[in-house]
Amino acid sequence: MFICICNALSDSELKDAVSQGHGSVDDVYRACGAERQCGCCAEIIAEMMRDHSDDNWAVPDGEGQVVAA
Ligand code: FES
Repeated sequence: MFICICNALSDSELKDAVSQGHGSVDDVYRACGAERQCGCCAEIIAEMMRDHSDDNWAVPDGEGQVVAA
């Protein structure tokens, strides 16, 4: 599914780029060989970055609890 229509970037391409740990939405565009155009997808990419960050931040402690990394 395309998330960024302007650059024809799919959700899987963007997830791969986000998983590399880029610091800004524009860095994610650049990692995909693209750049921000209309910006309609920027909030979706920012949300993907927040979700990825949350995933990396919360680490199971092995006893069913989640602790900060
Ligand atoms: S939809 Fe991504 S920059 Fe326009």
